This record gives sequence, structure tokens and C-alpha cells, in this order.
Amino acid sequence: MSHPQQMPQLPGSPRELEGVEQALLALSYGVHVIGSRSSDGTLNAMLADWVMQVSFKPRLIAVAIENDARTLRFIRETNAFTVNLLHERDGLEIARKVVMPSEGSKVRGRSEEAAAQVVDKLAEIPYGLHQNGCPVLDQALGWIACQAEQFITAGDHTIVVGRCLEGERLRPGDMLIERDLGWEYGG
Ligand SMILES: Cc1cc2nc3c(=O)[nH]c(=O)nc-3n(C[C@H](O)[C@H](O)[C@H](O)COP(=O)(O)O)c2cc1C
Repeated sequence: MSHPQQMPQLPGSPRELEGVEQALLALSYGVHVIGSRSSDGTLNAMLADWVMQVSFKPRLIAVAIENDARTLRFIRETNAFTVNLLHERDGLEIARKVVMPSEGSKVRGRSEEAAAQVVDKLAEIPYGLHQNGCPVLDQALGWIACQAEQFITAGDHTIVVGRCLEGERLRPGDMLIERDLGWEYGG
């Protein structure tokens, strides 16, 4: 007698997806600011949790960036970006200044006038520029300057793999972690 083969069930029911969401929300993340510049020299800064080292030789890091983020557009134009690690002591203050999208049109439900606005998130944040033209924040715990080598579309995000060109630990202490930030990105 033949038995129907037991196929692994892909998560799909609302109950299973709830479990996935709860488990994903339990992941730990550090909080970073991705610095970028466009081909015409406009700068941007974006709050990001989804950053990780992905190779020793060469040293590569990956950042998952929303497909409609201004930051992704800028990195595609110049292949340059920086990863700034926020400090546990004063990172929250910086996170507040960069958490909103620079382009009003990215926020659903805005009036036509508000949607047309573009905010300079770096206006009140002290920073210098790396040789690759991207912002390095004075108050970061540390930073890494990168050259983008691969863009991998992954659902509603694109994984940008960057080669680490240069980096520095600027201050003693630890990174700001998402749990202490009090905002969630995941699930
Ligand atoms: C705690 C937190 C972590 C975030 N992490 C990421 C991330 O890893 N990748 C991402 O694309 N967006 C992330 N975001 C959302 C972006 O910061 C947000 O969409 C940003 O405004 C996009 O900026 P831009 O359009 O100016 O580039 C996060 C938001 C919060 C509140």
C-alpha cells in the first residue's frame, strides 16, 4: 500500500505566521545609521537594524534596504556608503533625527504639499565626510566606509553587499541596541 509522501508545510496560515513574527521580533539588533550620497553630491542618512558582516576575506558587510528608500537609490548611483554604529549613551538622540524618510512621498497618507517635501536629516547632526563622499558621524561609536559590490533583491528589501574600505572605533562603550531604542523593525 502506498502512503502519500509527507510534504514539509511551508508557513502560511495566520497562526503559523504569527509564530514566525514573534520569533523574528525576538532577534537582537544593533542600531546603525547608513550614510550615502547621490551622484550630484546630495547626502542622506538612514536608520538601519539589518546590518551584518558576511565575509572575512575580503571583509564584506550586508545591509538590507527598503526598495523605495532614497538611500538605496543613492547607493545604486555611487556604489558608496558608510555604516555608523550608534552609541548606547547618545545614539537615541541621533536615531530620532534620522528615523523618518527624507522624502515625504514615502509616508502614506500625506497631503500633496507634505509629500513633496524633502528633509535634510543631517542638518542638526555633526559629521565629516569619508573619502568615498559619505557621512561619518562625529558621535558614532565607530564607522565603516564601504563600496557596494552586489545588489540582491530580497522581497521588499534589497541586500547591498559592501566591501569594507576603512573603519574606526571612535569611542569606548557599546552599541545602542534596538531593545533599548524602544522601536521595532522586524517581524
Ligand atoms: C529601529 C528601526 C530600524 C530600521 N532598520 C531598517 C533597515 O535595516 N533597513 C531599512 O531599509 N529600513 C530600516 N528602517 C526604516 C528606515 O529607517 C526608513 O524607511 C528610512 O526613513 C528610509 O530613509 P530614506 O528613504 O531617507 O533613505 C528602520 C526603522 C527603524 C525605526
